[in-house]
Amino acid sequence: MQDYLQIKEKFNSQINSVQDLNSLELLEQEYFSRKAGEITLLMRGLGDVPEEERKEKGQKINELKVAMVQSIESKRLELKENEYKKIIETESIDITQPNLPKHESGHLHPITLVQNQLEDLFTSMGFAIEDGPELESEYYNFTALNIPETHPARDTQDTFYIKDHAGWVMRTHTSSMQVRAMQSNDLPMRVIMPGRCYRNESTDARHEHTFYQLEGFVVDENISFANLKGILEVVAKNLYGPEAKIRLRPKFYPFVEPGVNGEVSCFLCESKGCRVCKQSGWLEIFGAGMIHPNVLSAGGIDAQKYQGFAFGLGLDRLVMLKYGIEDIRHFQGGDLRFLKQF
Ligand code: PHE
Repeated sequence: MQDYLQIKEKFNSQINSVQDLNSLELLEQEYFSRKAGEITLLMRGLGDVPEEERKEKGQKINELKVAMVQSIESKRLELKENEYKKIIETESIDITQPNLPKHESGHLHPITLVQNQLEDLFTSMGFAIEDGPELESEYYNFTALNIPETHPARDTQDTFYIKDHAGWVMRTHTSSMQVRAMQSNDLPMRVIMPGRCYRNESTDARHEHTFYQLEGFVVDENISFANLKGILEVVAKNLYGPEAKIRLRPKFYPFVEPGVNGEVSCFLCESKGCRVCKQSGWLEIFGAGMIHPNVLSAGGIDAQKYQGFAFGLGLDRLVMLKYGIEDIRHFQGGDLRFLKQF
């Protein structure tokens, strides 16, 4: 009974002076740890107590234990509450602080949006998509496309030649991928090749030194001009709605024969004539034609047996018409006020 009373007194004075949760934890250990807690030891010692006393002593110890556990728990609550109070007192919100900018997530460039839309359309028609180099050999950009070194078409597609690297140019069109794709694909072929192109232009609202095209071609047996027209009609309707019509007019490109210049009916004025279509009712958006036999041969394809058509869509033009953008230079300008509208 001696130790019992001593423990009770000692504990009571200790718990009164506990100031923080850490010391409370230590105090709890001192009496209740499984190995050497004073109460634990006392309970364990009951085995040695003569039987007549055991019951009574056990009860007393148990009462003490319950009382101690209770005071520890209520002390714990009290200390926690004090801690919260302290936090609330010391921490404050500065309501005069300006609203910090939230993290903005970016989004796709309008040209990318339209490119993605067309990629979805063409893959749904069984076309593969191929990527190619922007720094291109003169061979793939010109020579393989039936444009020999002295041909005036090289002047109309003047571009950036690479200093100290004769024979290399920044590609002037995605047609540079035609022969590459013929060399790397099996027949029959249906491929589109979107990408960035360059020309040595003095820039204005309709011309830019850096622009985007989407090239496509099909090579198979029995391919005709009607197939070309069919595909381009699907493209026009996909971009500008079911009412869109296309018009093809002869135009010379050395790598196609016959070659055409493709226009789509002006969706703004329904072909009545307006500022955007320059009163003509039609908008020029692509070049196309039946692939020249010389180009097929350069691609290692038997031009007697196979035919194909090719087209090149000017992506910047398509996007300008789709969104009513008046100046091509916005695309590369990096002005967020422009870009954020899409
Ligand atoms: N490469 C031509 C241009 O940039 C477009 C074109 C592609 C024409 C395919 C015919 C066939 O103007």
